[in-house]
Amino acid sequence: MQQRLGSGREGLPVLHTPPFPAILLLPLKTKFKMVKVAIAGGSSPTLGESLVSALLSTNGRHTPIILSRQSDNTRISSNVEIRQVDYTSHTSLVNALRDIDVVISVLLIPGPEFITYQINLLHAAEEAGCRRFAPSEFALSSEAHEKVDILSAKLTTWDAVRSSVERGKIDAARFPCGMFMNYLGIGCPPSKRKDALAGFSEGPYLFHLEGDNPWVEVPLKEDDGQFSSLIMTNIRDIGKFITAAIDLEEPWSGRELGMAGETINFRDAIAICEQYIGKKIEVRPVTKAQLSEKLQEVPKNNFIEYMECQLSIAGTEELFLFEATLNKLCPQVRPMTITEFMQTFWTGL
Ligand SMILES: NC(=O)c1ccc[n+]([C@@H]2O[C@H](COP(=O)([O-])OP(=O)(O)OC[C@H]3O[C@@H](n4cnc5c(N)ncnc54)[C@H](OP(=O)(O)O)[C@@H]3O)[C@@H](O)[C@H]2O)c1
Repeated sequence: MQQRLGSGREGLPVLHTPPFPAILLLPLKTKFKMVKVAIAGGSSPTLGESLVSALLSTNGRHTPIILSRQSDNTRISSNVEIRQVDYTSHTSLVNALRDIDVVISVLLIPGPEFITYQINLLHAAEEAGCRRFAPSEFALSSEAHEKVDILSAKLTTWDAVRSSVERGKIDAARFPCGMFMNYLGIGCPPSKRKDALAGFSEGPYLFHLEGDNPWVEVPLKEDDGQFSSLIMTNIRDIGKFITAAIDLEEPWSGRELGMAGETINFRDAIAICEQYIGKKIEVRPVTKAQLSEKLQEVPKNNFIEYMECQLSIAGTEELFLFEATLNKLCPQVRPMTITEFMQTFWTGL
């Protein structure tokens, strides 16, 4: 078998033996491990795209592999491998994960399959010998999710994941990120909108900056009636945070590794928005009692409105906040602030 010598890190020679990845031959003190990351739902233009591009920007150090129900997708760059999976088939999932180190789910599935498919994925990851797993969280803390009926699916999934961690089957973390900052891109100049939304296509929530009469609904704190605070993170920064978490040598250990683009009081967020949209914003404060009354009138089958009302109630209890542990562990990630977001996407044409 032919071997050749190349120039390794820190000027050390590296022996390249074709069947073995060069990383195995690097000096032991090499800080980062090369990792294959499977992203369930990685075809999505939001978190999928964010994570895939953050992993690709490691210049081959990490390799993203998309798990999808479809075998191809014209939107996805041809240099990213797509593995077609059947989330109901253990064999299909195990086969797709055999050479994978880390599995990140960014799935969003309406209905009970959101739980079963992710638990199937978890158990397949365990059998395939994957090292780490993260379920599709990307919202708030568990305490907040307990207040929102539709988010109970995330709690049930997380319970199963944590139980696997406790039994030593896999390492795992959940990643809260607060509200996508991209909600603030709704209504920005058309020339900037695509980048501002980062694939996000939902309607406005709390911040209604579009149109001539912008307004913001502000949950007032239950205890003192003051404006509550919230965390916002740009979708594009979430992939960077997860990539940095993958690089952590310390185990994730079933922890909540929260990330924050910015933690801010509604008053300050509104002031920044006013500065960049160039219009006065009408503030619509709401108390927990008013939201609870409204909730009685929202039909339960209006899932979005029901969820938003319950989320706002959680906001009155300051549950839009959580520990931004990942910011502390990975200070090299410099997420976009709200000022930077508004300046980038609301100014110029
Ligand atoms: N913090 C926030 O403000 C915020 C806002 C919105 C969403 N989120 C969270 O972000 C995460 C991703 O949400 P998203 O809106 O980006 O997701 P999405 O684009 O709606 O879906 C992600 C992927 O899930 C897969 N999928 C969809 N339906 C499926 C089904 N029936 N069976 C199997 N796979 C299915 C699809 O992949 P394939 O078609 O390739 O299989 C899709 O690309 C979720 O956890 C969501 O709760 C957070």
